[in-house]
Amino acid sequence: MIAAVEVDGRTCVIRSRSETDNCPDDSSEWDAWGDGETVPGEHHRAVIVVDGDIIGTMSWHAVHYGPTVGSRAWSMGIALAPQWRGQGWGSLAQRLLGDHLLASAHRVEASTDVDNVTEQRSLEKAGFHREGVLRAAQMRADGRHHDLVMYARTRD
Ligand SMILES: CC(C)(COP(=O)(O)OP(=O)(O)OC[C@H]1O[C@@H](n2cnc3c(N)ncnc32)[C@H](O)[C@@H]1OP(=O)(O)O)[C@@H](O)C(=O)NCCC(=O)NCCS
Repeated sequence: MIAAVEVDGRTCVIRSRSETDNCPDDSSEWDAWGDGETVPGEHHRAVIVVDGDIIGTMSWHAVHYGPTVGSRAWSMGIALAPQWRGQGWGSLAQRLLGDHLLASAHRVEASTDVDNVTEQRSLEKAGFHREGVLRAAQMRADGRHHDLVMYARTRD
């Protein structure tokens, strides 16, 4: 169990994803990676469950700002099923996972497309601070490298 909270009488749980979970399609206009090959290393997956239904998926991986364990940060991502978007679940889930990950790293970051204003606002609601733009940082489903906005929370 990563986190469990009650909001307006509804239970929201974030837990590790299992092989048998029936997850919603997590592709969007921003991401369409499917279950394709990921960079080897520390890559973790979770599901967001509201009143027993899996409403979305989350993942995080290590990013290293130096060779020591102390300079490892986590980078996290999220995708909700379309019918669950725009109701506050994304910012809640990102706040909860951020809290959890800050127990094992000093910094948790999340980046998103410069055009994805919904995710930018959701991250701000989750307590992340906008740091700047990373140019041509991520290849998208359209095969082009897009600029990303970097957000982060730190233990401080
Ligand atoms: C991005 C995502 C995780 C956000 O979660 P969510 O539950 O839909 O969003 P939230 O309800 O937490 O917050 C969205 C905020 O953005 C605002 N918003 C939405 N569209 C907006 C727009 N075009 N311009 C400005 N603000 C916008 C909403 O009003 C809301 O802010 P408010 O509560 O202050 O009104 C979810 O929409 C999703 O899964 N989208 C598809 C996948 C994706 O983009 N993942 C992130 C890839 S990095």
